[in-house]
Amino acid sequence: MNILILGAGGREHAFAWKISQSPNCSRLFIAPGNAGTAQYGTNIELIQTDFPAIKKACLKNKINMLVVGPEEPLVAGISDFFNADPELTHIPVIGPSASAARLEGSKAFSKRFMQKHGIPTAGYREFDTDHFAEGSEFLKTHKLPIVLKADGLAAGKGVIICNSHVEAMAEFELMLQQNKFGEAGRKMVVEEFLDGIELSVFVLTDGDHYVLLPEAKDYKKIGEGDKGPNTGGMGAVSPVPFADKAFMEKVKKRIIEPTIQGLKVDQIDYRGFIFIGLIKVNEEPVVIEYNCRMGDPETEVVLPRLKNDLVSLFRAVADKKLNEIDIEIDKRVTATMVAVSGGYPGSYEKGFPITGLDKCDKDSLIFHSGTKMVDGQVLTNGGRVLCVTSFAETLPNAIRKSMEVLKHIDFESMYFRRDIGYEFL
Ligand code: AMP
Ligand code: GLY
Repeated sequence: MNILILGAGGREHAFAWKISQSPNCSRLFIAPGNAGTAQYGTNIELIQTDFPAIKKACLKNKINMLVVGPEEPLVAGISDFFNADPELTHIPVIGPSASAARLEGSKAFSKRFMQKHGIPTAGYREFDTDHFAEGSEFLKTHKLPIVLKADGLAAGKGVIICNSHVEAMAEFELMLQQNKFGEAGRKMVVEEFLDGIELSVFVLTDGDHYVLLPEAKDYKKIGEGDKGPNTGGMGAVSPVPFADKAFMEKVKKRIIEPTIQGLKVDQIDYRGFIFIGLIKVNEEPVVIEYNCRMGDPETEVVLPRLKNDLVSLFRAVADKKLNEIDIEIDKRVTATMVAVSGGYPGSYEKGFPITGLDKCDKDSLIFHSGTKMVDGQVLTNGGRVLCVTSFAETLPNAIRKSMEVLKHIDFESMYFRRDIGYEFL
């Protein structure tokens, strides 16, 4: 079958790499893709939320399956758009409906969902512009630190952890009264701070059944030792040593199963990935967020460990037959390190040539995030530029191998964290 992947990052490069290995994929397209995805299929220049343009590309290229990488088109309803159009209904969309994508698209919705279905999460209150005064009063006596979250999508910047009441009140005002996050911040969630270590869990569901993919841990801060501002993700490792059998059993029983069941009870059709961000608090898993997609750079360590044919998995999602699939996981460790443009996550320049991409060892993979091909030369085209994933029997060796590959790669003001996986070494 012909498959179209929507998206442009390292996650989509990893999808393209994996899907291109499938005997079930005839032709692969990526929209808009990057210089890395072009090695595995045909890039199509279009905007991810331009649904009529996506429709046109699907019909022209006889697409039989659409795999959606990022959250934005899902929250905007691409799945519903395909289901409602008689010319497109034969194309299964791997990604949930807009209603289901609210698990990521609205923090207030996801908190209410968790509370209703008894899923462990931090205590919270939600406030909108009409309840600003009430919210300010509530903040005054709230235990520190205080977590403030914009309700809607805010490109990963909508969470602020405040260490004083003064800071919390000021941020609260900026969000609700001064539109700091635009529409996304006109409603907000005020949440208790959870102290513990984070873990990302990935579930693929057809709405009735689910499979659990390898877990991962990502490193969000720009600086070594988890210092400085948040980024999209500077690296990831899989497996995560503390996510042992007993812990993952708790995750299944207390979080994943009630989530799938809750979606059914609430009659929310969900076909696609659920990425659950957890914190381990005193040996117990607590949910900090749901995402309606795979993580980036987590996908770049998760998919390399997945032995199954990804297209067969997606076919089973479309046919509601995931119960017939057994997941097979490579026992080896994967680690990925992300190389970014100097200045990121603040302002940075683009368009610098990248060299050394041909010096990759057999145990490593280079996934492009922000790159483009111009006149046969790969150029930087984003904050996160590329990542190097390596396989090894142990985490230190996987890190060493990625570092070795990164030594040969160069572009103007390239930076990467050398301490990925530090707490497990
Ligand atoms: P999110 O955008 O929901 O992924 O949140 C971004 C980051 O903020 C998370 O990865 C956590 O590190 C942190 N965070 C979110 N909620 C909490 C919380 N309730 N307690 C502690 N940290 C949190
Ligand atoms: N790496 C975190 C995310 O994809 O949201």
